[in-house]
Amino acid sequence: MKHQSPALAGMCAIVLGGILAGCSSPRPVAPPVSMAEQSRFQTANIPAGSAGEEIRKGKLIFDETPKYASAYVGNRLSCVDCHINSGTMPHASPMIDMANIFPMYNKRAGRVISMQERFQECFARSENGSPPPLNSEAIQALTAYVDWLSKDGVKGKAFPGRGFAKLPNLTGNPVQGIAIYAVQCSECHGGDGAGVPPIIPALWGPNSYNDGAGMNDPAKMAAFLVPTMPQNNPGSLTPQQAFDVASFIHTMPRPKFNEAYKHY
Ligand code: HEC
Ligand code: HEC
Repeated sequence: MKHQSPALAGMCAIVLGGILAGCSSPRPVAPPVSMAEQSRFQTANIPAGSAGEEIRKGKLIFDETPKYASAYVGNRLSCVDCHINSGTMPHASPMIDMANIFPMYNKRAGRVISMQERFQECFARSENGSPPPLNSEAIQALTAYVDWLSKDGVKGKAFPGRGFAKLPNLTGNPVQGIAIYAVQCSECHGGDGAGVPPIIPALWGPNSYNDGAGMNDPAKMAAFLVPTMPQNNPGSLTPQQAFDVASFIHTMPRPKFNEAYKHY
């Protein structure tokens, strides 16, 4: 279902979250850009013609990566599983305006990289696969899609909702995290963390990201979780609960990063 109308599903989730979270616990992160404003990135607004076709292809790869870029994917995760609503949700590491801030310095690589090299990095780590060549259809089409998401932006200027939530630097308690997981996460992601791919992604095990991925850092996962999860009540986790459940997930097994790709 999420692949048919991710924007709509996200909108319902956000509205529902706002109601269920209630007034007692203010949402820690208010989206700086309204959902209405984001609707400019609906598929219907992609231009016609061959340029539009390349953009649509890129969006398909983004939303169903194991299906449309299978050669470079080693698990069952799609870009959209972490970059929510086809990369348009604020604070869920959106791709809006991304093309305007590359090339940029990358700490992991220790050098300035292009946006295409950043895509390769998520293939090698988050997708537990291999970096597609720069001239591959996968990289070219993803570039067309993200360029389109960046068309209204200003060169050098980041989207206001770039990255994840900003949280205090807390220490997670994995034992507390087990209880949170059982009550708030396992109904969807399963007691075994395997999810139901491609509808619900795995959180650990062979179909998850590898131990070289950004999500393998509990602080980063916590910052992802606060605005996005649980998907049926986002905004309901406190930063401490997010750190607790992320540090529990961090104790579970997952694929090993292939050191051959350490320059990505
Ligand atoms: C398992 C979750 C996950 C998946 C799947 C994933 N990513 Fe990411 N991605 C992340 C995280 C986490 C970060 C932030 C990493 C960091 O800060 O170290 C990130 C960062 C990025 C960035 C840089 C964003 C910025 O603001 O600097 C780009 C571009 C990107 N990913 C593209 C992709 C593409 C394209 C795909 C699919 C081929 C993909 N990602 C799949 C988790 C994921
Ligand atoms: C109602 C079902 C549902 C619940 C409950 C839920 N999730 Fe998710 N989760 C999803 C879906 C679906 C996605 C894929 C992104 C999207 O479509 O929103 C996802 C994505 C994720 C991701 C990023 C992708 C990956 O596989 O690494 C993480 C991490 C995550 N969820 C953790 C959690 C945690 C922790 C909880 C409990 C606090 C939770 N989720 C509760 C449905 C759910």
